[in-house]
Amino acid sequence: MKKVITYGTFDLFHIGHLNLLKRARLYGDNLMVAVSTDEFNTGKHKQCIYPYKHRAAIVEALGIVDRVIPESSWEQKITDIQRYNIDVFVIGEDWKGKFDFLKEYCDVVYLERTQNISTTDVKQSVQNGQAVDGEAVVNPDGA
Ligand code: CTP
Repeated sequence: MKKVITYGTFDLFHIGHLNLLKRARLYGDNLMVAVSTDEFNTGKHKQCIYPYKHRAAIVEALGIVDRVIPESSWEQKITDIQRYNIDVFVIGEDWKGKFDFLKEYCDVVYLERTQNISTTDVKQSVQNGQAVDGEAVVNPDGA
C-alpha cells in the first residue's frame, strides 16, 4: 500500500484545500493529513477562525482522507514519515524547495495551487460581504 501525507492548517475549508487533497490522494492508496494545532499556529502568529477540533473533523469527514493527525511542530515530519511508513510527501507549491530535505526519506511532490483562493481571501470576502469568485474552482491540474 502506498501512503501519502500532507500538512496544513485548513481553516475555513475551501475549494483550494479540496483540490489539493484530491490530487494528493492520487499519489497513493492512503492519505494522511497532519492538521496544525491551535498552539502550533499561535507560535507562527497565525490566528485561525476554526479551532483544531473543527478543522480536523472537517478534513477527516471528506471521504478521501484516511487519517488525521495533529501537526504540533516543524520538526515532526521525519518522525511521522518513519512512524507511518510514508511513501510520498505532498504539499502546495507555495512551499516549493522548502521540504527537499525529506527526499532522503520519501518522494516529495509540490502541487500547483488552485488560483484565486486562500483562507486569507475568504476572510477578506466575508469582511467585504462579497462572494468568492467562482473562477476559483478552476484547478490547473484538472482534478
Ligand atoms: N492550497 C492550494 N491552493 C489554494 C490554497 C491552498 O493548493 N488556493 C494548499 C496549500 O498549498 C497547502 C494546503 O492547501 O498545501 C493547506 O493550505 P493552508 O495554508 O491551510 O491554506 P491557505 O488558503 O493557503 O491559507 P492562508 O490564506 O491562511 O495562507
